[in-house]
Amino acid sequence: MGNLQAPLPEGMGFISLPVVDFSLSHEEISRAILDAGKDIGFFQVINHGVPEQVRRDMEAVCEEFFAMPAADRESFHSDDNLKPNRFFTGSTYKNSGAKFWFDCLRLSSTFPIGDSKKDWPEKPEKLREVFERFAVQTRGMGEQLLRLLSEGMGLQPDYFEGDLGRGNMNLTLNQYPPCGDPEGVGLPPHCDRNLLSLLIPSTVPGLQFSYKGSWFTVETMPNAYIVNFGLPLQVVTNGMLKSIEHRVVTNPKESRRSVGVFITPTWDCLISPAEEFLSKESPPIYHAVTYREFYDMHGVVKDGLSSVLTISHKTAI
Ligand code: OGA
Ligand code: NI
Repeated sequence: MGNLQAPLPEGMGFISLPVVDFSLSHEEISRAILDAGKDIGFFQVINHGVPEQVRRDMEAVCEEFFAMPAADRESFHSDDNLKPNRFFTGSTYKNSGAKFWFDCLRLSSTFPIGDSKKDWPEKPEKLREVFERFAVQTRGMGEQLLRLLSEGMGLQPDYFEGDLGRGNMNLTLNQYPPCGDPEGVGLPPHCDRNLLSLLIPSTVPGLQFSYKGSWFTVETMPNAYIVNFGLPLQVVTNGMLKSIEHRVVTNPKESRRSVGVFITPTWDCLISPAEEFLSKESPPIYHAVTYREFYDMHGVVKDGLSSVLTISHKTAI
């Protein structure tokens, strides 16, 4: 990893994320995930086994989606936050009304995907098939990663295969158009509310994470996935794994895209520190809430509130 300690002005530091190389031994992969997870909860996965063609097809269909006549996209448009499948502009978060500089196609699915894709856009013609293949492959990689992480923490490999990882998964296509305003914000600072986020960024930089008081711009190796831990992982591990704040800044000239698959708890799943992480020396630092409550509590972006774990015993709510 680059020098994380150097004090840098806002957004000026580019950083190569810690590397998790899936071609190494299980022990080495587990250790790399755990090391990165305890420090920043962000890393890049290489040699992940998702075929290059799957990614290329995904990029091509995303390009087609934005090249269609606007009316074809708008038919899927909705400002209703609760709608699982929709196209929208601005934000997924509740805030003071600020609109952010991004367009998003957000889809939801059971796993296996089955009939869920009938609720996805009909155009472009290949979208359903290409998104499905991408989601299956990406989620497969994510599940492998969770099994290795579990083993690394001394847990059963299927630890996250119950309610914690079995909610409907989300699929997103984010587009950040060029923005002339240097103050333009693509995505406001937030921590992810799902369990695990698996993201393919375009080569245009823009994603930043906050570490020791500075923003760092993420750089990845070609064909790598960016993976980051969501807040529920921090809670379950009683703070051992980190879910850190990140944002997307805009670019004056180029459009940036990213596609993501989000592994998510079921709505009724209890989000609380797991027994395995508790002891006399390590009492629970968060209290338990259902994922539905958790999601709602952490859906507000206002002066960095999203990064404050409001279920912390130290935080009055
Ligand atoms: C997100 C996110 C980053 C990106 O969707 O939660 O942080 O690069 N996306 O689009
Ligand atoms: Ni995010």
